[in-house]
Amino acid sequence: MQQELPACKPLLTPAIVISAFLLVGIIFVPVGLASLSASQEIVELIDRYDTTCVPMADKVGYIQDSKTDKSCIRTLTVPKHMKSPIQIYYQIGDFYQNHRRYVKSRSDKQLRYKNAAYFTKDCEPEGYTADGVPIVPCGLIAWSLFNDTYTISVNKKAIGVNKKDIAWQSDKNKKFGSDVYPRNFQNGNLIGGAKLNESIPLSEQEDLIVWMRTAALPTFRKLYGRIETDIMANDQLTVVIQNNYNTYSFGGSKALVFQLHLG
Ligand SMILES: *[C@@H]1O[C@H](CO)[C@@H](O)[C@H](O)[C@H]1NC(C)=O
Ligand SMILES: *[C@@H]1O[C@H](CO)[C@@H](O)[C@H](O)[C@H]1NC(C)=O
Repeated sequence: MQQELPACKPLLTPAIVISAFLLVGIIFVPVGLASLSASQEIVELIDRYDTTCVPMADKVGYIQDSKTDKSCIRTLTVPKHMKSPIQIYYQIGDFYQNHRRYVKSRSDKQLRYKNAAYFTKDCEPEGYTADGVPIVPCGLIAWSLFNDTYTISVNKKAIGVNKKDIAWQSDKNKKFGSDVYPRNFQNGNLIGGAKLNESIPLSEQEDLIVWMRTAALPTFRKLYGRIETDIMANDQLTVVIQNNYNTYSFGGSKALVFQLHLG
């Protein structure tokens, strides 16, 4: 049977093809130029430290030994005058925070409401302690909270890192409760990462809030804090890293990033 459906097929004459490409060009060239100039206003200093901060061949053994001193000193020379505020990020490579079972391993109810501690359905195996009491915050995301720390000095003078307001305001106000306190967190045999101070409510645990906004790609950066003093060109920037976090067992990388906007 002959079908008689209405159909439409573009006629690719040279004139139509050329004008279509021109139109796309006219739209995207300015967008590209704007992005390029915005990215040139950023100065970055990146220091990958995961390999150099382990003195021996058995990296996993070193990082899992809780008795060794994990501090590691890195010295960087600042190439250009860095005006405050300077953002400090940690960058982790090959860490799949987007894994299906990892992303789901949290309880938003529990993070938000004081009386929802028992809502730990998605959190297994980090829902309850061995004694059967709920872990707050539960789940693998919270459990694997990043725990390297950085102490920074410029020309041997210590400078402060401001860790206030590193998380999204909307997360602090709407997703993490100001009357929910950590409980039974990181108490098991297997420690996944940082501990939390039990007298500070979740809405003020900004490192946790930043960490729990999971990254979509395996290499990601998260804000650690800000330096609010200028650093001059050719200054010596010294960072004492507490190299605690175990990315070695899965071959992940770690780097420290200083970033600022010019102009
Ligand atoms: C840091 O996290 C690692 C796991 O990545 C853990 O083995 C270690 O005990 C933690 N150290 C501190 C000081 O929190
Ligand atoms: C926990 O936070 C409280 C209140 O901010 C503070 O006084 C205390 O020193 C902190 N404890 C630890 C172990 O850091």
